[in-house]
Amino acid sequence: MKSRLLVSFGLVLILFAPGLGFAQSKGDAKAGKLKYDANCVGCHGATGKGDGAAAAALNPKPQDHTNGKAMKALSDKYLFDIIKDGGASQKKSPIMPGSGKKFSDQEVWDIVAYIRSLAK
Ligand code: HEC
Repeated sequence: MKSRLLVSFGLVLILFAPGLGFAQSKGDAKAGKLKYDANCVGCHGATGKGDGAAAAALNPKPQDHTNGKAMKALSDKYLFDIIKDGGASQKKSPIMPGSGKKFSDQEVWDIVAYIRSLAK
């Protein structure tokens, strides 16, 4: 009886551990928030709605990161690449600056995780 319990516990671990590992290796939303607050809110707004102080003057405007439907359509790789290499690298507005010189890849993943956490 005891060993059966252990086996099922082991199975649960095997089933869920890769998922946990994936989430962890992709980024830490809390760490990402600090970077976002310091570097992105001027254009993207404090809550990611695309309503930062500078946004009124921008064309095209930054999108609403809280729009779950729109965000779901964007891959992690696209978010990573545009944050790291800037808008022009993705054939988007060059006003969206690249942060690859400022942040490590892990820090960019942290920001991606944070942006994902904003989407509803
Ligand atoms: C100077 C203003 C400005 C700053 C600062 C800025 N962005 Fe942007 N960002 C933009 C604009 C404008 C766009 C829209 C580009 C387009 O649609 O052509 C954009 C687009 C994006 C997109 C793509 C969204 C989509 O729906 O395609 C992401 C993700 C993003 N920014 C994240 C960030 C992050 C993270 C930071 C901080 C590290 C940041 N941005 C800093 C202006 C800015």
